[in-house]
Amino acid sequence: MPLKTAPRQTTPSNRRPDFAVAQRPRRLRRTPALRAMVQETRLAKDQLMAPLFVREGPESKTVGQLPNHPQRCLSDLLRHLETFVKKGGRSVILFGIPDNKNPEATGAWHEKGIIQNAVRAIKKSFGDELVVAADLCFCEYTDHGHCGVLTGERVDNDATLELIAKTAASLAQAGADIVAPSAMMDAQVATIRQSLDRNNFKETIILSYAAKYASTMYGPFRELAQSTPGFGDRKSYQMNPANAEEALREIRLDIEQGADMVMVKPALPYLDIIARAKQTFSHPMAAFQVSGEAWMLEQYAQSGMARRQDVLMESLLSIRRAGADLIISYFTEEVLSLL
Ligand code: PBG
Ligand code: ZN
Repeated sequence: MPLKTAPRQTTPSNRRPDFAVAQRPRRLRRTPALRAMVQETRLAKDQLMAPLFVREGPESKTVGQLPNHPQRCLSDLLRHLETFVKKGGRSVILFGIPDNKNPEATGAWHEKGIIQNAVRAIKKSFGDELVVAADLCFCEYTDHGHCGVLTGERVDNDATLELIAKTAASLAQAGADIVAPSAMMDAQVATIRQSLDRNNFKETIILSYAAKYASTMYGPFRELAQSTPGFGDRKSYQMNPANAEEALREIRLDIEQGADMVMVKPALPYLDIIARAKQTFSHPMAAFQVSGEAWMLEQYAQSGMARRQDVLMESLLSIRRAGADLIISYFTEEVLSLL
């Protein structure tokens, strides 16, 4: 077909201007291959971390309302990880549900604690094939359900630091690649780095829950982990959802104290924080798509108003687009099968 030369356009004032015809963003959206070619953000299997819950005793237990997330006994956990690794899963973060809770949170730092046992068993089976992070907090281990030691009704920051130091060393001793402090105690990262280095765990990584908000979105987690505070709330240690500058300050402090990676939590309601943190700092940035977010997405996905896999992918890509390098998501196992 002979190519036409464009007629010189004599644009009457009521016609659209030339540039509107030349600029057609839709050209790049015409086919799936074209769309993929210019896609700016992607999600890789390596960028997903699965939260997993492990309980003491010989049986798994369904607790709470998060589908596919039971409290796993150790042998079920190991079985689950077999499939996880086969699907291309690369990293997990472990939460423990101990048999006994007490004011000193002994279950968190005991050599034979549930997480210590789990980490040893996982490392024995999977070695460096799987990155194992251990959440470091006490709310699952204290009888009152707060994230640290109490003095009266106040969570005692510095008394809690002593437990944090002890717990970090014990998790590293068990073989955890990463310790992830989530108690929001001041100076917890410096305390952990010092404890790890003194005990010669110089390679153990700190993934700090640096900007962790006092969010309403932790409900399903607390049901599952049985870690609801017995009185009051966590507002005297977790952040006010109204604050953004403070998040940057928290992240800066944790980086100064030696955090290797930093986290923003929750994710979807805090995309602005993720984006600003990513622009401000150059450390690897994680985001936790928390249990309440997962629950909301689950309800929507189940409503039939949109395709389930599209709902999940949109949420995760949005978190990546905001700037997260790593996403902790309850949908990790499911999404691994889609990637
Ligand atoms: C423990 C911890 C919590 C979460 C992660 N680590 C609960 C809390 O702070 O109450 C929440 C994760 C989720 O909701 O998925 N400090
Ligand atoms: Zn806690």
